[in-house]
Amino acid sequence: MTNELSWWKTAVFYQIYPRSFLDTTGNGIGDLEGIRKKITYLEQILGIDAIWISPFYSSPMKDFGYDISDYTDIDPLFGSLEEFDQIIIAAHQAGIKIIVDLVPNHSSDQHKWFLESRSSRENPKRDWYIWSDPKPDGSPPNNWLSVFGGLAWEWDEPTGQYYLHSFLKEQPDLNWRNPKVQEIMFDVVRFWLERGVDGFRIDVAHYLMKDPELRDNPLNPDGGKFIHKSLGEYDTQKHLYDKGHPDNHQVYRDFRLILDEYSTDQPRMSMGEIHIFDLPEWTSYYGKDLDEINLPINFSLLGVDWEADKIRDQVESLEKNLPDGAWPNYVLGNHDDQRIITRYGEDQARTAAMLLLTLRGTPILYYGDEIGMSDVEIPLEKLQDPAGLRQPGQGRDPNRTPMQWSAAPWAGFSAPETKDLWLPLMDNYREINVENQLDDPLSMLSFYRELLSIRKTHQALQSGDYQTIPDSPPGCYLYLRENRQERILVALNLKDDESMIKLSYGRNGKFLLSTYGDQKDSIPESYNLRPHEGVIILL
Ligand code: NOJ
Repeated sequence: MTNELSWWKTAVFYQIYPRSFLDTTGNGIGDLEGIRKKITYLEQILGIDAIWISPFYSSPMKDFGYDISDYTDIDPLFGSLEEFDQIIIAAHQAGIKIIVDLVPNHSSDQHKWFLESRSSRENPKRDWYIWSDPKPDGSPPNNWLSVFGGLAWEWDEPTGQYYLHSFLKEQPDLNWRNPKVQEIMFDVVRFWLERGVDGFRIDVAHYLMKDPELRDNPLNPDGGKFIHKSLGEYDTQKHLYDKGHPDNHQVYRDFRLILDEYSTDQPRMSMGEIHIFDLPEWTSYYGKDLDEINLPINFSLLGVDWEADKIRDQVESLEKNLPDGAWPNYVLGNHDDQRIITRYGEDQARTAAMLLLTLRGTPILYYGDEIGMSDVEIPLEKLQDPAGLRQPGQGRDPNRTPMQWSAAPWAGFSAPETKDLWLPLMDNYREINVENQLDDPLSMLSFYRELLSIRKTHQALQSGDYQTIPDSPPGCYLYLRENRQERILVALNLKDDESMIKLSYGRNGKFLLSTYGDQKDSIPESYNLRPHEGVIILL
């Protein structure tokens, strides 16, 4: 029953990339006040339940906020702590939870901790980061690679050692084997809990603990599963020693105790960015006694071809491998990956949304997907993302462009007088924007609104069991969501031609929604699914 489940199990999450949501200062970059202003949109128009906000902390912005120089302050570009408090107040009044990003694996190289650590080998904070001597020939301590290209080691001439950076050299990895680092980061966690946040999205959660002996990674002859996007060189190794160490689990058990301490009124939660595609290893982050991360984020659908069998296989193996009581979640877009429409196509975007919002588990939406934003081609001179600048074609700018609110100048994202935006808008923003789509019952936004409202009013979709319907017609994926009160059929045709489905599960079904936007009161014994049509039927 829903009321026995923690809020984060039944909630729909919505990710906001703050630079691109709404600019209230006219500098072409979104800010916290912009988020506060749109709480009504999120509550009343969309009807989502929780917002995850990507980093807004003090930062030199080498990786747009994932390089933090003060974990307990807000970058002036985004606003102030007072403005953050206002978001908490407004969101909570609207019944919306706030999840903030926690970036524990690395800080900025401009963080005072690192400046001290770097200042001399004797500095008490030297061991807060991962420093190592060169090999006798002067080369780096091992063969570890940076996700963003090149070696993961940076030479520091004045102190004669290398430091580790799993991402940019401006993002040195903290040494989680030092108890002081754990202590200080857990203080950061407490700081935000005291300010009222409902949970954390933990950046690269499985990277914290590294092999203490810093052993070389073996080569990966087959090429690996993608990390964010296919990062070529990085995938040439099996990442046995630079991430995914079993000692991470103790960190998350300790982390969980802190969340529990603050969960007297309402549970506080964590979701962890864990790009591990071996299911048993990935599920281990729930914890043996479900005492670690509440939701290790499930990226499996992002890497799968848009074919019924493949998607069904992913869902079924997740359902089979989940430890008892562990709660699933799904994601189809975020600030690191191509947008849904760009990845699968226009016709596919609605069935994708229907899938995401009807599977068993917590869905995490990405801003702009609800109006059908697609990736934007960014001219070379406008490229921002260091990943794209270092590895052409791998950049994430295309899927981080400003939200399109209206047909006004700058798509209503920024004031008309604003000189330029940090990233260009999509050319089609005059048609594809919130204001336009609100008036159109067949728009993507209207479709999302209906989907969200159907999910909210049918508990079977929030918390019912999941069951695949065997022998679906080829290219179609059918499943049931069911609790004691109701039984709901979701039928998705994921191909370009029609398919007849038999509705032997109940005769007088009520049509709840079609991706085509038609409404029908009741349905016959069989139904002809049109190309890329998805339907939700109450049986
Ligand atoms: C994962 C984040 O999602 C990505 O945007 C960032 O660049 C890396 N972690 C480094 O923090």
